[in-house]
Amino acid sequence: MTYSIIDDARVILAGHTNGESSLLAMLEEVQGRHRYLPRDVLILISERLDIPLSQVYSVATFYNAFSLEPKGCHRFQVCTGTACHVRGAMQVLDRLETQLGIQAGQTSADLEYTLETVNCLGACALGPVVVANGSYSRHMTASQVDRLLRRIKRDA
Ligand code: FES
Repeated sequence: MTYSIIDDARVILAGHTNGESSLLAMLEEVQGRHRYLPRDVLILISERLDIPLSQVYSVATFYNAFSLEPKGCHRFQVCTGTACHVRGAMQVLDRLETQLGIQAGQTSADLEYTLETVNCLGACALGPVVVANGSYSRHMTASQVDRLLRRIKRDA
């Protein structure tokens, strides 16, 4: 936990004046700015809104968009649902793990990359599907992973 995140969170929270109904918006803004929700920020929100910390945690852990752990600048989600799995999702995942040097569920030590698996993205006919920084890539193969990574590193 760095001082700057708490400091920034105080500014974010000051911009929300609708009391308890601001909870979701506060969490979204902190998550959007810092890519995760530090415990100290959740405590701060609890105090500002005068609601139990358990209530803040309940919302923060309900939505997949929120994370209680730091995430990388670049987030990869590999669908390993049945339709994607039978079309080679595990080879795609293997290539990403090798190229990024992390396993599924991990974030690189330099906070550059986060690699996750998801069960179904609702685009089964396009599988295997990878979501990189919110952008969908369809019919992925291991070699297409290399191209995707080159493009992301080039555009970074
Ligand atoms: S199983 Fe991958 S999108 Fe549905």
